[in-house]
Amino acid sequence: MNDDGMTTIGLLHPGAMGSSIGAAAQASGARVVWVSEGRSEATVARARADGFEDVDWLNGLVNQSRIILSVCPPEFAVELAEEVCALGYRGIYVDANAIAPATSRTIAELVERNNGSYVDGGIIGGPARQPDTTRLYLAGAQAQFAAQFLDKGNLEVNCIEGDAGAASALKMAYAAWTKGTSALLADVIALALAEGVHDSLVAEWERSQPELVQRSERGLPGAAAKAWRFVGEMEEIAATFEANGLPDGFHRAAAEVYRRLEQFKDDPNAPGGADLAKHLLPD
Ligand SMILES: NC(=O)c1ccc[n+]([C@@H]2O[C@H](COP(=O)([O-])OP(=O)(O)OC[C@H]3O[C@@H](n4cnc5c(N)ncnc54)[C@H](OP(=O)(O)O)[C@@H]3O)[C@@H](O)[C@H]2O)c1
Repeated sequence: MNDDGMTTIGLLHPGAMGSSIGAAAQASGARVVWVSEGRSEATVARARADGFEDVDWLNGLVNQSRIILSVCPPEFAVELAEEVCALGYRGIYVDANAIAPATSRTIAELVERNNGSYVDGGIIGGPARQPDTTRLYLAGAQAQFAAQFLDKGNLEVNCIEGDAGAASALKMAYAAWTKGTSALLADVIALALAEGVHDSLVAEWERSQPELVQRSERGLPGAAAKAWRFVGEMEEIAATFEANGLPDGFHRAAAEVYRRLEQFKDDPNAPGGADLAKHLLPD
């Protein structure tokens, strides 16, 4: 708590999603601090727009925070937790990233070895800037405690039964379908292009599967802009299937599809349909 009696939440980091969760924490009565060191201008601008307090260094955030929220690209989730734990953090650590349950349990062990408390999180929906758009699922002994500092703004917080991997497992299963099928759709369009049957396929889809034409034109541009971040998420999903003895190849392939689209990173004008899918084909 700070001098005003507010609970301090450390936000790592104010990305598109993280900043909206920080805003929900402020709306729930918490003070939100963040660390500008090493972050891009876009992150600085988001943090300023939401009025988070810059404590400059990770050490300052670790020392002041009762709860730390990790919302970063999934492939950096473990590294970030290691940095926080190396500074002696003993508070509540919430990892809300799209990571495999096994990755989540690795972070739980790091945090608990330090005598901190771990809460597993999974986010479904876009950034929480409007009501009824975004759910944060939490699992772990301190989930209810953490939820009270997050659930009064635009974020819906649901505490679920289960151990340190339950919320992550839910996120993996959900995104396996949504992002996995987007990758498959782009790959199918690329195949039709390569075989010279694209126009015939679209004509058939318009008759029998019109939702695929719509999804290809309206959904794929957004997926392309986030493809760079989906690579790590698809690898985490594949690892989750593998850990359960299920075929993991779908999402290894989806990771490769997104890897081939990384050039559209954060591009608001990324194309859809054939204009996007042609980038999957070899030169
Ligand atoms: N956006 C969504 O709609 C959505 C939906 C559900 C779940 N999520 C989850 O939320 C998490 C973050 O997504 P986002 O949309 O907020 O992504 P984002 O807008 O790209 O933000 C990611 C944040 O992490 C920081 N970052 C970059 N490299 C890092 C590193 N090596 N270590 C630590 N932090 C690093 C970025 O800082 P700089 O770029 O300034 O370096 C940025 O502030 C992901 O795990 C994602 O799966 C997002």
